[in-house]
Amino acid sequence: MSNEFSGKTAIISGAAGGIGLALAEALAQQGMNIVMGDIDAAALAESGDALRAKGYKVLTCALDVTNYAQWEDVVSSATAEFGKVHMVVNNAGVGGTPGKIEDTEHETWQWVMDVNVMGVLYGAQACVPAIKAHGEGGWVLNVASMAGMMGMPYAGAYCASKAAVVSMTESWFAELQPHNIHASVLCPAFVKTRIHESYRNRQQKYAVAAEKRIDKEKLQAGAKAASMAVESGIPASMLAERVVEALVSKQMYIYTHPNYRKVTAGRFKAIDKAFVDSEQSPTVGHLINDDIVTF
Ligand SMILES: NC(=O)c1ccc[n+]([C@@H]2O[C@H](COP(=O)([O-])OP(=O)(O)OC[C@H]3O[C@@H](n4cnc5c(N)ncnc54)[C@H](O)[C@@H]3O)[C@@H](O)[C@H]2O)c1
Repeated sequence: MSNEFSGKTAIISGAAGGIGLALAEALAQQGMNIVMGDIDAAALAESGDALRAKGYKVLTCALDVTNYAQWEDVVSSATAEFGKVHMVVNNAGVGGTPGKIEDTEHETWQWVMDVNVMGVLYGAQACVPAIKAHGEGGWVLNVASMAGMMGMPYAGAYCASKAAVVSMTESWFAELQPHNIHASVLCPAFVKTRIHESYRNRQQKYAVAAEKRIDKEKLQAGAKAASMAVESGIPASMLAERVVEALVSKQMYIYTHPNYRKVTAGRFKAIDKAFVDSEQSPTVGHLINDDIVTF
């Protein structure tokens, strides 16, 4: 097979299951060498073997995305095995626990931010120099969510983390363009995975002391709603097929649920209306014709 992906190497975080595994298989089908990283050693070994059994070139690496040294090890192993790195898919993410502002433990908020935001930064910091090094160009694919395009009640930590991923990608898109590295951000709505059971791989460093733990019953309604929503989602394989299609046509925002357009349209309309309000402001309205400052 000869296409823009074949013979190149992709590192995918959170590749042991769900969306990461589906992307690993879809990119392997395009002829890529796949480096799968995950915090769940047993699931990673099983998924790695399953892809190898289908004839794909796969390397599995222990990876907690909140540990930068492990990211560096993954890049070294990938380079030793396949020669070069061309793509990083920053997919690993956790859902946290839906709940009221006052019911969200600090440790839970920190866990969501560290995995979903710092994990993406670390992935880019470790992989981008390796992609730049060979001068052939490549890809940075960050997995955000529709939650990064809209706030949702009781999900402040998750939405904030995904909005950060959207924003990081927009910044990196312009920064990486001169290096022929295409940055894109995947914003799916619900996909049938185990995201609602993210606590299964929560690291000990984010454990909540018993006396501070929020009453489970309080959180149950949110957890049930999240599980029903995820169960109603599209299959991860459909999402992965859509991602390959969008990477080929160099889309920056990658949507998998066109029915959510009305949500972003409503948000953009409200943001734009706020500018009209500022134009009519007696305090700042006169700034309307000033030059825009960027750097
Ligand atoms: N499923 C959905 O409805 C949905 C929607 C929008 C966005 N997403 C995003 O898709 C991405 C993948 O999630 P998923 O739905 O496949 O969930 P999932 O729980 O099925 O898979 C997540 C994978 O990430 C791994 N992981 C968790 N913490 C990790 C860490 N610290 N380091 C390395 N690996 C870690 C898990 O072991 C698991 O294999 C996440 O970023 C998620 O926020 C999911």
